[in-house]
Amino acid sequence: MNKHILVIPGDGIGPEVTQWGKAALEKIAEIFGHEFTFDEALMGHAAIEVTGTPLPDETLEKARKSDAILFGAIGHAKYDNDPSLKVRPEQGLLKIRKELGLYANLRPILLFDELLQASSIKPTILKGTDILFFRELTGDVYFGEKTRSEDRNTASDLMIYHKYEVERIAHKAYAAARQRRGKLCSVDKANVLESSRLWRETVQEIAKQYPDVETSHMFIDNAAMQLIKDPKQFDVVLTANLFGDILTDEASQIAGSMGMLASASVGDGTGFFEPIHGSAHDITGKDLANPLASILSAALMLEISFGLKEEAKTLVDAVDKVLKEGFRTNDIADTTTNRYKVLGTQEMGKLVIKFLTQTV
Ligand code: IPM
Ligand code: MN
Repeated sequence: MNKHILVIPGDGIGPEVTQWGKAALEKIAEIFGHEFTFDEALMGHAAIEVTGTPLPDETLEKARKSDAILFGAIGHAKYDNDPSLKVRPEQGLLKIRKELGLYANLRPILLFDELLQASSIKPTILKGTDILFFRELTGDVYFGEKTRSEDRNTASDLMIYHKYEVERIAHKAYAAARQRRGKLCSVDKANVLESSRLWRETVQEIAKQYPDVETSHMFIDNAAMQLIKDPKQFDVVLTANLFGDILTDEASQIAGSMGMLASASVGDGTGFFEPIHGSAHDITGKDLANPLASILSAALMLEISFGLKEEAKTLVDAVDKVLKEGFRTNDIADTTTNRYKVLGTQEMGKLVIKFLTQTV
């Protein structure tokens, strides 16, 4: 198979981890006889530094021409404490999501048995959890109109949804639920928000087309609680942009660490694959970042964009083997025991590549 992949390392730990997602794709191509070609582009703070804008036209052009995109992370400390800065790295990510029509963000909570101890939740509650989040990605308060009064003392962000936006992601989520355990929980705040009432009505309508899937609805506050209380009750969770952003960070604790979670953003065109973690400036350049989320993002690319199931499984198996043999990065190491061999980013990346050849 011939594929052209655009790598956008981005900011902070992005380049350190993306290097390993890319290396994993190269190794997979070599093992299975595929031809993957790569290009690179700037986005975020890295792009602002060079071009003055977080998403240069050149990056967008390259993105449109590629078969899939592997992205690292976005953000820089200098913007976090200075909300007055007008040009911000995150705008690059939001714009590329909108421009490429990446309206569905799939965030699987993949729980490796080996990491049951790494979570702050009791292993008995966690064991067997397998959730697939569908977070809407190009609507909501993220893209609604923003205002600021002249005296700067009043601000607003419009929370807005159109019916077609709910319909198209609902169809994707239902299709996935059919392939899984046949359960879909839609999360909203329909007791308060009009946009959530539209969301719920629309999901109720679409549900009729999928009578084989068991549909439930939950308010976001309750869902945040249920996720920790009894995560096994969930199969597919469908939710809006902001609720999904918050709920999936919470859910990352089920998988032990943000450093383990991959995501796929898809729509009708090129797919975009990225770890759910951020740029983590506090550990940037210290060889402390966990490259496994980037490697698992590469696995999602193989499966979702290229339909290469066996190749994707080989990658996940290699990650599993690394964990089974007791290798950990700092974020998933249990420092109360010395059972684990703690590795830096580079060593962890190398080991997965090495095991890749052995798991085929
Ligand atoms: C994410 C991130 C982004 C978001 C930020 C960086 C704009 O937190 O991908 O979850 O809020 O969507
Ligand atoms: Mn987020």
